[in-house]
Amino acid sequence: MREKFAVKLEEKRYLPDPRFKATAWMPDYDEACQEHMRDPDAFWDRIARELAWFKPWDQVLEWNYPYAKWFVNGKLNITYNCLDRHVNGDRKDKPAIVWRGEQGEERRLTYEDLYHEVMRFANGLASLGVGKGDRVCIYMPLVPEQVIAMLACARIGAVHSVVFGGFGAGALAMRINDAKAKVLITADVSYRRGKAIPLREIAKEALTQAPCVEKAVILRREAPGVDLDPALEVDYADLCHEAGPDCPAEVMESEDPLFVLYTSGSTGAPKGIVHTCGGYMVGTYYTARNVFDIKESDVFWCTADPGWITGHSYIIYGTLAVGTTIVIVEGTPDYPDPGTYWRLVQELGVTIFYTAPTAIRMFMRYGDEWPAKYDLSSLRVLGSVGEPLNPEAFEWYYHHIGRKQCPVVDTWWQTETGMHIVTTMIGEAMKPGFAGKAIPGTIVDVVDRAGNPVRPGTGGYLVIREPWPAMLRTVYGNDERYRTYWETIPGCYMAGDLAVKDEEGYIMILGRTDDLIIVAGHNIGTAEVESALVSHDAVAEAAVIGKPDPVKGNIIKAFVTLCVGVNSGDGLSAELARHVRSNLGPVAVPAEIEYVDRLPKTRSGKIMRRVLRARELGMDPGDISTLEE
Ligand code: WTA
Repeated sequence: MREKFAVKLEEKRYLPDPRFKATAWMPDYDEACQEHMRDPDAFWDRIARELAWFKPWDQVLEWNYPYAKWFVNGKLNITYNCLDRHVNGDRKDKPAIVWRGEQGEERRLTYEDLYHEVMRFANGLASLGVGKGDRVCIYMPLVPEQVIAMLACARIGAVHSVVFGGFGAGALAMRINDAKAKVLITADVSYRRGKAIPLREIAKEALTQAPCVEKAVILRREAPGVDLDPALEVDYADLCHEAGPDCPAEVMESEDPLFVLYTSGSTGAPKGIVHTCGGYMVGTYYTARNVFDIKESDVFWCTADPGWITGHSYIIYGTLAVGTTIVIVEGTPDYPDPGTYWRLVQELGVTIFYTAPTAIRMFMRYGDEWPAKYDLSSLRVLGSVGEPLNPEAFEWYYHHIGRKQCPVVDTWWQTETGMHIVTTMIGEAMKPGFAGKAIPGTIVDVVDRAGNPVRPGTGGYLVIREPWPAMLRTVYGNDERYRTYWETIPGCYMAGDLAVKDEEGYIMILGRTDDLIIVAGHNIGTAEVESALVSHDAVAEAAVIGKPDPVKGNIIKAFVTLCVGVNSGDGLSAELARHVRSNLGPVAVPAEIEYVDRLPKTRSGKIMRRVLRARELGMDPGDISTLEE
């Protein structure tokens, strides 16, 4: 298996201008690793002290495999660090959020503005009976109120569960029910490509299946405002208007939950990944500051939606804890034209730009002339996240967006890790195709099934050997599922990715080991799409695979067997696509549907997706079977 799995490693490297290393917060990678190795607790203790705590911790880490407690008995509130600390210091008038809408509208909120908005809305939520530990579901467009809603929950100790605004009613209802959310925060519409998407209508449909929700807060963006149902709905602006202005931050224990965020599982329903207050704050603050090397004058644009972990950690918590100016933009990168992002970089003076390979590959297709039209000289650091940044995309990003002046930080991490784990720290040599090395403070390895390190150049499982502060603490309501992360490979956290290390320790991510498909950077579980398809009357069985795509990384292909008497003509494929869209949202819609008489199965009846995948890709199924879980 080993030899078959050997990977050809590219030799190319780029060395950033020495001034990056000279001025970096973390100028010496090896020295930082050694500091951590000498005394891991002292390392994290030093970082945690850069933040404000109501009461310091008694112990940095209590590790009771596979359960970790970080900053034990420390008391804090993450919003105190994201807001009060700056308002009381010298960032009161600094822009915290610069928002742009699709039609060019702009809103700016200083740290002081954000602080007041968060406190009012936090009081508003409290007036609805939301308190510490209650779950609140946030299903919002990318507007400042989405950020405010998240921070307002954290302010009063409520646990938010943000559901990406592109999900459909079925996906939303499932997430609301799993977390037993008491309140839903949504908006009348979101805007995409000049069209209004009726979020409130989708939410209403979800609520018919989610009786746990007592109240829905509606942000009304359209004029005249839609009529609300007084039994269920409350207007966002009215709620804030009636609420008091001051809301001191609730004192939270380090290990109190901060949020739940759902991510697709390889089997069954999505998993509610639980993050807690103290460790998550320290881990995201540390990585935001050091990986992007954020300086006081930086303008930071992460193009993700706050509905994903990338948005949680590097639009909101990590970045605001550092005190940077964040840019958020509603809409799509190529609307109204493919120069939109580059125009915004120029207009807003963006210095750090963090996006996904799928977007980079899309821009490559549109051509070099689009970025060439704009002045991108404000850019200092480029980031990538969500899937492997293939060498071609790296080269294009580095040359056409970074003009050979900007280090590219390809950050490998997960919803579960909460914070970056692998990257190439600013100033270090970059190797296209490789994400980089373990970030100081984390111990990463590539191993075989038994947990033994594999030779350089040989593929294996990517694992994390020691606990890290922002690690998930459990899967909401399903601790069994949490344990599998740590119990599959003895003694390690198994990420579910395949990787290879080179002689210097640089890690290249090869892909998933399980039935997750990463489509345009979004994790889609095969099981979810299959069950959405099967919920249609015409479908007997369905199997879904990922098929490589030059832009999106993967697309979804579905193999479907139909119920007796149904035929595949008469627009059935379009009908099934609509069905999946309304259930799960546009990201989960199969790009291809093939009708088959039967699906390949094991003797126990398990669908063998790898056989379908191998057939589709013209490979020998035996060759890839060793890669499968
Ligand atoms: C993949 C996103 C290669 C990986 C932050 C991981 C990556 C999954 C990278 C987690 C990267 C993320 N290079 N692959 N830089 N970053 N991935 O939970 O397969 O949405 O396990 O978190 O995305 O996706 P999630």
